[in-house]
Amino acid sequence: MQSLPEVAAALVAPGKGILAADESVTTMSKRLEAAGVAPTAESRRDYRALLLTTPGLSSYVSGIILCEETLGQALPGGPPFSEAAAARGIMTGIKVDKGTAPLPFSDGGFVTEGLDCLRDRLADFRARGAVFAKWRAVFRPAGLHPRTVHANAHALARYAALCQDAGVVPIVEPEVLMDGDHSIGICHAVTATVLEAVFGELEAMGVDLAGIVLKPNMVIAGAGCEDQAGPAKVALNTLQALGAAVPASVPGVAFLSGGQSNGQACANLSAINAEAAAVGEAPWRLTFSFGRALVSDALLAWHGVPANTGDAQSRLAANCRRASEASQVTAAARAGA
Ligand code: G3H
Repeated sequence: MQSLPEVAAALVAPGKGILAADESVTTMSKRLEAAGVAPTAESRRDYRALLLTTPGLSSYVSGIILCEETLGQALPGGPPFSEAAAARGIMTGIKVDKGTAPLPFSDGGFVTEGLDCLRDRLADFRARGAVFAKWRAVFRPAGLHPRTVHANAHALARYAALCQDAGVVPIVEPEVLMDGDHSIGICHAVTATVLEAVFGELEAMGVDLAGIVLKPNMVIAGAGCEDQAGPAKVALNTLQALGAAVPASVPGVAFLSGGQSNGQACANLSAINAEAAAVGEAPWRLTFSFGRALVSDALLAWHGVPANTGDAQSRLAANCRRASEASQVTAAARAGA
């Protein structure tokens, strides 16, 4: 059996990233409905089966994050999802948080829940083939209260420690949301504060940083901000925020896409890697753990029609290939661009 640092390193191996296909039943149902597909357990299964069986997926993707419903399902007429993933050389991850709830006395902040019974749930998920897990905390820059930062950082660390104790690699996901009209400077400051708090709690909790993957936001302006920075500025701000808080022992940073298109997220990831190489390489691998930026095009193309499966899979593969290429950009490539 591989050690936690070996699994974490494999998740961020050169050219590889992680496919986030772990939308909750509620969120996935809304996305299916918006794409004109009736939201049922069967359509959610068929859609995730389409994603996982995309030809060539494992050339770009080391792991796939599933929700509990999908982990308990099987490919139509085939093996359980975790077995089907392993057969393709793709590791199975599981979203273990239970979403967010209002945090008292925090001016409208939210805290991610799901620590109750997590030890037993992790043992069950591990037995069913999950080798890594995910927990997402969200931070809205406008009016962010220190209690929201503290409560979520503490919960992320408790989750990460429980994962490692269960032999599961934790993906630690603190997301500063794009919602709002905040500037890139505000996103930078909030991201730096959040990362510092998260790593303080991880270290206090005894988490082995070599056995985690960090899944942060890129440092970008809010979606409603008129002044949207280009990739070079995003890269500089992102690397500064990471550099101030993320220890070198963390093997990899796998960014979420957060509502960016595939083109935008990949352009930013390319610039981040180019800038890191230009200043002498970051200590961590810099790759992707995108959800929407990989899968949205496939969902729209599929439309719930079996005959569209090939087209949908081609779109997913193309988006994954672009993200993989962006994760391997070097300073030389930037100079030649
Ligand atoms: O928790 C969020 C997902 O894992 C990443 O999704 O890339 O669409 O933000 P996203």
